[in-house]
This record gives sequence, C-alpha cells and structure tokens, in this order.
Amino acid sequence: MKYKDFLALRDWPSADLLNMLLLARSVKAEPAKYGRQLEGRALAVIMEKPSLRTRVSFEAGICQLGGFAINLSSGEISLGKRESVRDVAKTLERMVQGIVVRTFGHDIVEEMAKHTSIPVINGLTDFAHPCQAMADYLTILETKGDINGVRIAYIGDGNNVAHSLIFGAARFGAHLAVAAPAGYEPDPNVTRQAMADAAETGGKIEILRDPLEAATDADVIYTDVWTSMGQEDENEKRQRDFAGYQVNDEMARLAKPDYVFMHCLPAHRGEEVAASVIDSKHSIVFQQAENRLHVQKAVLLELMS
Ligand code: CP
Ligand code: NVA
Repeated sequence: MKYKDFLALRDWPSADLLNMLLLARSVKAEPAKYGRQLEGRALAVIMEKPSLRTRVSFEAGICQLGGFAINLSSGEISLGKRESVRDVAKTLERMVQGIVVRTFGHDIVEEMAKHTSIPVINGLTDFAHPCQAMADYLTILETKGDINGVRIAYIGDGNNVAHSLIFGAARFGAHLAVAAPAGYEPDPNVTRQAMADAAETGGKIEILRDPLEAATDADVIYTDVWTSMGQEDENEKRQRDFAGYQVNDEMARLAKPDYVFMHCLPAHRGEEVAASVIDSKHSIVFQQAENRLHVQKAVLLELMS
C-alpha cells in the first residue's frame, strides 16, 4: 500500500519504514543516482516556528532530487487566520506537488492532509517529529550496525521528539527507556500504543523516573531541550523541574563504554547536556543532523515520485 502522507511513525508499518531507511542509505551512498527523480517538482515548506535543520535539509534535499522548494514563513500564510487550513491545502494542490508543515497542533497537519490530494509531511508539531526520528534511527543503524535490541536512554521531556522516538522503537524493535520528571512524561496514549505495537518487533518501551537507571548500560543516550518552541513562558519553572536530568559525565559513565550521545539540536549546553558530553568523542549529533537530509530525500522520493 502507498501512503499519501508522513505525519507520524505510528501511521506507517514497520516494513515500509525500514524500506525508507534502506532507501535513505542508498541515497546517501549514491546521491547522483537520484538527481533527476523529482525533476520539476515543487515542494511548499510552511514554517510556523523557527528552523535551521528542517528547512535547510528539505530545501537542499528537493533541489538535489531535481525539484525546488518554496519557503513560506508563518507571517506569509498565517494558517487558520488569514485563511482556513482547508483552503490553504486545496489551493496548494493546484500549484505544487508536496507540502512540508512545521506548526503547533498536530490536528493542523492532519486537517491539511485530509483536504489535499498531495503529500503532507510533518516537519514538527507539538506532538511528533517523525523526520527527526527517522534520521535518528538511520544514525543508530550506521553507528551500532542494527536497531533491533539497541538500548536507548532518552533523558528529559516527554515531548514531540520523545514521542517519535517511542513510536520508532516500537516499529524498529529498539529498547527505549525514557526518564522524565513527574508531570513531563510522554503522552500515556503514545506509550500504551507503542508498547502494544512493540510486541510485534521485540521492541521494549519503559517509562522511568530515575535518569541514572535509564542511562545504565545504554548504547545511546539521547536528550532534547527542556523548553520546546512555544513553551517559552514555562522556561523558568522547567529549569527547576528538570534539575538532575542533565546528561553529564557522571550520568554518561553509567552507559556502555562505546555509548553514543544524540541530540536533535538545537542544544543548550549547561542545561539538558554538559558541554563535556555533547562535545566529546561519543557525540554523533552532526552525523545525526546530516542524516535529516538523506532520510528526507527518501521520504520525498517515496511520496512524490
Ligand atoms: N532538529 C530540528 O528539527 O532542527 P530545526 O528546529 O533547526 O529544524
Ligand atoms: N522539542 C523541540 C525540538 C526542536 C527540534 C521543540 O519542539 O522545540
């Protein structure tokens, strides 16, 4: 079956996601082979929040496939304010062949996908960041040689990035331990669904309180900012609530000796991660950032060919 949209990893079966990772590996190894596959195709990139990696990787990615991007910042469209999400979706399908959206509510990307015949790709919502998780799992595959059974410790906020890692662990059979402070756990519906889905792949999802317990014997330690885009008013409270959740040398010592450190970036050194960890030889954050490009080219090929 061909899926029209890429909104959350929970919507896609394991085999298709795995194929997408394999395609991404091929795109990374032999980019020239794919240079004309989306010739003349236009991709609208709607950004209602700031972005470096997502915007640049989609723009560069579509160009490298022979197409081109039209970047639309939030002031330009004002989704749902200047005109309805439905009207934006129905207009864009007359002009372009795909849409990337970064916005707040996940319902907005779902609404857009429902009202348009062209692919809609989630470039981050408050709920999920599926392109990030695909790049993360490609990076884990490259560095650990497999995803199945790899022990990942996610330390910090049960946010969009955590949700997509959780769905991915279920799909790819990883063992993911999330450690979050009280009140910042991942959405229990995400955890419940992922735990049920993980039974098929041998994946394992644990939600813990103690970050040191999660980090013990980990192959991968992953963290993200404590204050996501749109939560700036909560920043002071979050700095207090996340005390003890910084990924630092003391925590990293508990992981396997060849552990890797991952972060979706942007990072705040001295908050969720110590500089001595993110700037150490264990850190693979820029390989992870680069893989956004290769994975998203695979997503574009899959949906826009
Ligand atoms: N990781 C990520 O999505 O980065 P940007 O917010 O810079 O796009
Ligand atoms: N959780 C972060 C991820 C940024 C890529 C945010 O939503 O701001």
